[in-house]
Amino acid sequence: MLTNDPLEQWDRENFFHPSTHLAMHARGETPTRVISGAKGVYIQDRDGNHLLDAFAGLYCVNIGYGHTEIAEAIAKQAQELAYYHSYVGHGTEASITLSKMIMDRAPDHMSKVYFGLSGSDANETNIKLIWYYNNILGRPEKKKIISRWRGYHGSGLMTGSLTGLDLFHKKFDLPLAQVIHTEAPYYYRRQDPTMSEEQFSAHCAAELEALIEREGADTIAAFIGEPVLGTGGIVPPPAGYWEAIQTVLEKHDILLVADEVVTGFGRLGTMFGSEHYGLKPDLITIAKGLTSAYAPLSGSIVSDKMWKVLEQGTDENGPIGHGWTYSAHPICAAAGVANLKLLDDLGLVANAVRMGAYLNKSMQDALGKHINLGDVRGEGLLCAVELVKDQDTRMGFDPADKICPQIVANMLEQGVIARAMPQGDIIGFAPPFCITEAEIDKVVDVTAKAIAAVLG
Ligand SMILES: Cc1ncc(COP(=O)(O)O)c(C=O)c1O
Repeated sequence: MLTNDPLEQWDRENFFHPSTHLAMHARGETPTRVISGAKGVYIQDRDGNHLLDAFAGLYCVNIGYGHTEIAEAIAKQAQELAYYHSYVGHGTEASITLSKMIMDRAPDHMSKVYFGLSGSDANETNIKLIWYYNNILGRPEKKKIISRWRGYHGSGLMTGSLTGLDLFHKKFDLPLAQVIHTEAPYYYRRQDPTMSEEQFSAHCAAELEALIEREGADTIAAFIGEPVLGTGGIVPPPAGYWEAIQTVLEKHDILLVADEVVTGFGRLGTMFGSEHYGLKPDLITIAKGLTSAYAPLSGSIVSDKMWKVLEQGTDENGPIGHGWTYSAHPICAAAGVANLKLLDDLGLVANAVRMGAYLNKSMQDALGKHINLGDVRGEGLLCAVELVKDQDTRMGFDPADKICPQIVANMLEQGVIARAMPQGDIIGFAPPFCITEAEIDKVVDVTAKAIAAVLG
């Protein structure tokens, strides 16, 4: 492709980019990055730079870039049948096959999968199903949803409300009134540093129960959480957390939504994070790893318990009034079938576990003695490096100093992509599952050099 064409100018004049400083970008103060190709863990820009993508896009290209089997499955589906809807019992070979593959992999107590296109719309679906469920059960007051501070569940009206990060609320009149937030299971940032992990888990569960009692259990429909907090800082739960939380939810007859958009399909080393942590969710949200982002596809997996009530609802009220034109889009479903097959055939989940352990240990070894290191944490093939101004007080840097954006910019110059997480001084890593030890060595080396360059 020519590089002296007006693409950058067209970009600034026409393209409204998500999660971007709009004014700076329009003024040309932030770069336009035109990505033109990718293979394995590397992406290539149109100037010919090869960059090791240690965040798998937006932790979604789980099997890695450039798998021609998926491209071929997409092309074949587009030629045979590019589209038909899935309303009133319609399906395609691809969508029905994919539903079977998902349910074969889902926990035993789950029943059916509803398809959407994004993690956000799948969570919107979940909340509608929860409200429908409680209406059918004759509990119209039981509607509020509890989410966690630092949770990330999307950026729609409802899902942006569920998200517990300031940036997604500020000036958008969010969160909506039906959503309330409880404490994040963020052990490193616990107020009382003398607490053990188990004590902190018990504290989070007690906070949740106090909130439920304040609001009235008969007004609370569901609790939503990611098995490992993702965008909020890549924070694995402290020991005993999910057990303690589930005990409270069961006691108050509150549904559990496991948002597995990041953890679904192997990132923690099990097919679902729910297995990893012993969760028994009523709904599971899936997206990213379902197609490894080769095509947009998401899903809401519904438990037997909820499914029975949904069936009762349609017997009483007629067909369910919920659907998207592109639900179970055949091209996306074909991508999903090919992706899940490759995930198995290439043994990528096992590699993710091995490489995740290696990444977390190597990062700890490389950075352990740095005076600004707060925490290295991770689970499966997720890793976070949290930096602090002062190790003893855990005080962070002034956000205006943009320490982590500076570090990831320096890493980019050295050819590695990591993510400055949106809240706090946290650098996130979530590479494709096909990453090798040598590639991890490069990520760790570049991270250490970039931290040294910015902080000394
Ligand atoms: C846990 C979780 N849920 C939901 C979403 C929203 O997904 P999408 O961006 O596809 O709407 C994300 C996106 O990162 C996510 O990490």
